[in-house]
Amino acid sequence: MNQGITKMQSASGTKYGTFAGDIDTGLSADPKFLSSKYFYDDEGSRLFQEIMKLPEYYLTRSELEIFTNSTQEIFETIEGGEREFDLIELGAGDGLKTSVLVSHFIERNAQFRYIPVDISAEALNFLTDKFHLKFPALEINPEQGDYFKTIETLSKRSQRKKVILFLGSNVGNFSEEQALDFFRKLRLVMNDHDFLLIGFDLHKNPKTILNAYDDSQGVTAKFNLNLLKRINRELGADFNIEEFSHYASYHPLERAARSFLISQKNQTVTIDAIGKTFEFKKWEPIYMEVSQKYGIGMIERLAAESGFYVGKNFFDENRFYTNSLWKPAG
Ligand code: AVI
Repeated sequence: MNQGITKMQSASGTKYGTFAGDIDTGLSADPKFLSSKYFYDDEGSRLFQEIMKLPEYYLTRSELEIFTNSTQEIFETIEGGEREFDLIELGAGDGLKTSVLVSHFIERNAQFRYIPVDISAEALNFLTDKFHLKFPALEINPEQGDYFKTIETLSKRSQRKKVILFLGSNVGNFSEEQALDFFRKLRLVMNDHDFLLIGFDLHKNPKTILNAYDDSQGVTAKFNLNLLKRINRELGADFNIEEFSHYASYHPLERAARSFLISQKNQTVTIDAIGKTFEFKKWEPIYMEVSQKYGIGMIERLAAESGFYVGKNFFDENRFYTNSLWKPAG
């Protein structure tokens, strides 16, 4: 699952721990915000699986189409002369798209280990079990935790070539500044022979984008509201879920889809673990998530500014989406 850090985070290790500390920071701010990295408890991960199957959510299908049509070319490019590599997937989720790559790599007799990294233990167990069944000979070393911590330990791993996957438009849940910071950090732990394959959602008809975040079945609304349920359960809060509603927007100049929860009335919420009450005015928004869309120029700039160059962009037929293959710049 994605663990994008979409907004400012408080320092870790506050008196009540990072989750409570971040919720306190977000709900004390003006305007209020909550970090979408907290969407992915087990129920949030399940709801995200549902989102990926929605007719309006074209992102997953587009990436799957690219992998289905371009696996051979991706394989030839990353394999190069060196046969052995570590396939490291940041935010692995259900591995649906990755299984297309993995299956092709195995057919081609590639020598690789698969290292899925995810914040959700449940998603990781599910993925590992599925891959063990599907690819019994594949060596799988799952890592549960934070991308950033994993990035630090990556450099301590073997000197094998690393092929790092950051798929599913997870980069979209970073602000542009956070994306730059993230790729710069990643560059520091990559060697010249390594590769980075990133899924970017491209800008397109604004209505197509808006519909993807405002689905007719209301699954995205449940996905957002689930964070309030999580705060109720884990931090002893009394959010009345019925009194908040999901609102999605797309800003074509900024190329950013954003989601909010809107307070339906004046209300007070108590969070025991923080020991505070928070006031919500009628129609006051809580900013929940950004899903940044990209143009090719933006992708090239981002690569150059973080120490990479774009080897190749792979597209689906509609050009809704691209998987961009980056190499460390010398
Ligand atoms: C995980 N991430 C790329 C999804 C997105 O498209 O921003 C999360 C999501 N939020 C609402 N729908 C999907």
